[in-house]
Amino acid sequence: MERTNSNGTLSLKDVGQDVILVGWVHKKRNLGSLMFIDLRDRSGIIQVTVRDDVKVPDIRNEYVIQVYGKVAKKDVPNKALKTGAIEVIASKINVINTAETTPMIIDDNTDALEDTRLKYRYLDLRRPIMQQRLITRAKIVKATHEYLDEHGFLEVETPILTLSTPEGARDYLVPSRIHHGCFYALPQSPQVYKQLLMIGGIERYYQIAKCFRDEDLRADRQPDFTQIDVETSFLDEDQLLALMEGLIANIFKKVINYDVKLPLRRLKYDEAVDTYGSDKPDTRFEMHLIDVKDVLKDSDFNVFKELSTIKCIVVPGVASITSRKIIDNLQLEAKKFSLKGYTVIKNLNGVLEGSVVKYFNDDVKKRLLDVTKAKHNDIIIIAASNEYRDVCFGLGALRTSYANELKLIKPNTYDLLWVNDFPLFEKSKETGQITSSHHPFTRPKEAEAKYLDTDPTKVHASAYDIVINGYEAGGGSLRIYDQKMQKKVFQLLGLSDEDIKRKFGFFIDAFKYGTPPHAGIAFGLERLTMVLSGTNNIRDVIAFPKNLAAACPMSNSPRAVDKAQLDELGIEIKKEK
Ligand code: AMO
Repeated sequence: MERTNSNGTLSLKDVGQDVILVGWVHKKRNLGSLMFIDLRDRSGIIQVTVRDDVKVPDIRNEYVIQVYGKVAKKDVPNKALKTGAIEVIASKINVINTAETTPMIIDDNTDALEDTRLKYRYLDLRRPIMQQRLITRAKIVKATHEYLDEHGFLEVETPILTLSTPEGARDYLVPSRIHHGCFYALPQSPQVYKQLLMIGGIERYYQIAKCFRDEDLRADRQPDFTQIDVETSFLDEDQLLALMEGLIANIFKKVINYDVKLPLRRLKYDEAVDTYGSDKPDTRFEMHLIDVKDVLKDSDFNVFKELSTIKCIVVPGVASITSRKIIDNLQLEAKKFSLKGYTVIKNLNGVLEGSVVKYFNDDVKKRLLDVTKAKHNDIIIIAASNEYRDVCFGLGALRTSYANELKLIKPNTYDLLWVNDFPLFEKSKETGQITSSHHPFTRPKEAEAKYLDTDPTKVHASAYDIVINGYEAGGGSLRIYDQKMQKKVFQLLGLSDEDIKRKFGFFIDAFKYGTPPHAGIAFGLERLTMVLSGTNNIRDVIAFPKNLAAACPMSNSPRAVDKAQLDELGIEIKKEK
C-alpha cells in the first residue's frame, strides 16, 4: 500500500511536501465548503483538510482511509495535537475499509466501562493512551535485553508444560492425553529451571518469562503475567543487587529519561513493617507509624494498659472535616484492612477530642502530642492489639489509603528502595504450620541458620524485594546450594521424605554434582510498566488481560469444552455443588 509518512511524525519541516497517508478516521467535521478529518495511526493524529473541489467518498468514524495531499502550515496552530502546527491539504481520498459504529468512544477519554473495553479490546487498543502503554512496555523489554546482554547474560527459554513450582499460589493444570490421569502444571515461575541452569553452568541467565498463578486477583495481579527473570552464579547479595540496580536505572533512563540515584536505599523488613506498616512501603510521604505504648499505658484506659502493641498514625489537616465523614470512612477502611481496636483523637488547637481522651490526664495528653507531633487540625488514629503485625499492617494500609485520598503523593515522582532480611518463614495463625515467606529455595541468613532446629520463625532470609512507589516490583534471594540444607527446609515446611522425593527428587539429586552458589531475582514486567506509564490498573498494561473474575470477556475463556475432548483426556466434570 502506498504510504509516505506516519501521521504523528510530520512537522513544520515537512511543509510543502506531497504525502500519502493512511489511518483511521478519528473525527470528522463538515463545515460545508470545508471538511476536517483527524486521521489517526499508531504514531499520532494529523488534521486533514478537504476543500470542496475534492470529491469525498462517504466516510465515517473509524473508516480506514488513504489520503493524498500536501503538508501546509496552519494559520492558527491546534495546541491539543502534537502535529497541531500543520495540516495536510487533501487532493484525493480513498476508502480502504468501512466500519460500523463502534460500541465505545475511541479516544483517551472514553466513557466505556472496563468490561466493554475488555470485550472490544481490539478497539480499546486503538486509543492512543493504550498504545503508549504498550510502547512503554516494549521499551522496558528492549532496555532489559540491551543491559543484560551487555552484562554477559544468556537468554534461555524454559518449559511452559512443566511441573508444579512452589511460589505459594494454586497451579493451573494441563491434562496429558498420552499419560492418562497425569497433569502438567503451568509454571508459577521458572524458579526450579533457572536454578538447574546454574547447575548446568550457564552462570548468568535471563528470560522474559510467562508465569501462571491461580490466586485471588487484585489491581496489580493477573493470572498470567510476565517476569523479567534473572539468575546468576558466584555473586553475593551486594554484587547482585548492584547489577540489578543498574538494570532498573537503565530501564528508567531509556524509557522515561529519568536518572535513578544509585545505590538504592535498603530497608530491613522489620523496620519497614515497624515504621510504614508494610513490606512494600511508599516512602514518598511520611505519616510514619509511631509507638505510643509508653505514653498510653499511663492513661486510665484499661485496654491501653493491657494490650502489648499500641501504635498510631497522624493524618494531617482533616480534623475539621465533619467528624461523621472521617469516622464513617475510617470504619470502612479499618474493616477492609481487618484493623480492630482503633480509636480516633482530634487535635483542635492543642485541645484533644475523642472518646478515650477522658481517660488521659494532662501529662499523658502533653506526652502524646510531643511524641506524635500532631498539629492543629490533625487526627491521631490509634490502634491497639496483642498482635503486633495486625496493628502495623492495618495502620500501614490506612496510611496509604489516606495518602491517596489527601493527595499527599506528588505525581510523576519515583521512589525506589530495597526491602531485605525478610523472615524465612511465616506461621499460620490457624494451623501453626510454617510456610516459606518467599519460596523454599531461599537461603537462611548464615548466622541464624542455627535456630532452624529450635525456633525456625526466628530465622531471617537472604531475600530482597525491590519496591517502587509502594509496589513490589520484584523479588529474589540467595539460594540454598547445599543438599542437606535444602532437605531440612523442605522438612520444616512439613514435607515428608516421600513427598520430597516425589516432588523434588530430581532437584535435590542435581545438588550432588557441584552446585555453584547462586542467587537471582524476578521483576514483574507489568508492575514496572504500571509505574512507568502512571496507571494503577495492571489490565491497562496488558494487551489482552483477564478481568477480576479471571475471565476474558472478549474470547469468553475459560469455557466448557466438547465431551469428545474430555473423553480423550479421560476427564469427567463433576456436577456443580
Ligand atoms: P515472586 O513470587 O516474588 O518471586 O514474583 C516476582 C515478581 O513478579 C511479580 N508478580 C506478579 N505480577 C502480576 N501478577 C501476579 N499474579 C504476580 N505475582 C508476582 C511481582 C513480584 O515481585 N521465582 C521468584 C523470584 C526469584 O526468587 O528469583 C518469584 O517468582 O512484581
